[in-house]
Amino acid sequence: MERLIIKGGRPLSGTVRVGGMKNAALPMMAATILAPGVHILNNIPDLRDITTMSHLLRIFGAKVYRHGHALTLDTSTCDFPEAPYELVSTMRASFFVLGPLLARFGRAKVALPGGCAIGPRPVDLHLKGLRALGAEMDMEGGYVVAEARKLRGASVNFEVPSVGATENVLMAAVLAEGTTVVENAAKEPEISALAEFLRLMGAKISGDGTDRIEVEGVTSLSPAEMEVPPDRIETATFLIAAAATGGEVTVEGCFPEHITSVIGKLREVGAELQVRDGTIRIEGPPRPGPTDVVATPYPGYPTDLQPLHTALMTIAEGTSLISDRVFPERFTHVPELRRMGADISVEDRVAVVRGVRALDGAPVMAPDIRAGAALVVAGLAAKGETVISRVYHIDRGYERIEEKLRSLGAEVRRETT
Ligand code: EPZ
Repeated sequence: MERLIIKGGRPLSGTVRVGGMKNAALPMMAATILAPGVHILNNIPDLRDITTMSHLLRIFGAKVYRHGHALTLDTSTCDFPEAPYELVSTMRASFFVLGPLLARFGRAKVALPGGCAIGPRPVDLHLKGLRALGAEMDMEGGYVVAEARKLRGASVNFEVPSVGATENVLMAAVLAEGTTVVENAAKEPEISALAEFLRLMGAKISGDGTDRIEVEGVTSLSPAEMEVPPDRIETATFLIAAAATGGEVTVEGCFPEHITSVIGKLREVGAELQVRDGTIRIEGPPRPGPTDVVATPYPGYPTDLQPLHTALMTIAEGTSLISDRVFPERFTHVPELRRMGADISVEDRVAVVRGVRALDGAPVMAPDIRAGAALVVAGLAAKGETVISRVYHIDRGYERIEEKLRSLGAEVRRETT
């Protein structure tokens, strides 16, 4: 078991470069199933979730090689369209293979992802979308068993915009016969990155980035090469950590336009930000001001950063109200932050965060990726030593987090027990 040990209270200072977008890289890897041959994905972050997806693709018969931050995926040898529970249960993104497997093989057997720390996460919209395209779906022993001799373009209207369901339907629709229109589609930049990769493979997609995406099916796709865009959640994580420590940090290699809502909130808490092409410089306030956040789908404040904003508000000069319309029960970070002296109560799915002058370092446990990142932010700002266990959650979404933070002057080390 590994732990992160943080000696807090030092303002972060310096320059850091962000890696590739995890939540775009994962569906892009799944999309390689659609075109037999050798694909190349550049700027792939070195993360646990990427290793899990590589492992899953190998189970299907693909050959996956990593060279630094490049991944070569040869899917010409794929012949086994079954995703086992052992893998799907460790990473929900494994479910993204359902659409591509159906489109290529006309059948697929994929385990249901099951429960999750951030609240109920059903897959009904994934199934609804694929059924609309003509797939027949049955549940057998915890698995979705899907079959479609021919997928046909259709109109799909989602009740709520789901990132994963939009991606699964896009990946099936590109090889369906005729035109598919997805209404109330998710608009996240991760969808546009996937759509771009599919277009490079020869797919005909328009409207990504809006809530109406149109796909004109083609009969076959070819392997492609693409650079994964920078990770907006990692970018914002460094900005929030700088704000929490009153530091001065420059984040390089990022797309500021992907985090406009976050930049706005950081200015509201009193930070000064200078945004240039591909670079954001932040100067944190001596003490943040209180600021409410309601996490909503893109372009709203991202749910994945809601736990980090909560951590920042624990030391604000006043009270902030925080809620999450995407995952209304995403408050697993709250009990851990309370261990560090935070004054937070959750009433009717709203976190009432009464800022305290300082947090105290404490032993805490990372409950999931982003709640874990929130504890890192809190630990960097707190007085004394914070020991974060279950670091593997943080490693799912952040590459070499302690090294990057050390390069910004933080006192962080990893310990194996
Ligand atoms: C993606 O999850 C991300 N994961 C999550 O990031 C992120 O929190 C989430 O989108 C929202 O932005 C990946 O991309 C791998 P959704 P996803 O389907 O696709 C409801 C991280 O930290 N819904 O957009 O699973 C659902 O309950 C992870 O990197 C249904 O009702 O999220 C939620 O309320 C955590 N039925 C809303 O839609 C469905 O079939 C949005 O979820 C699917 C979803």
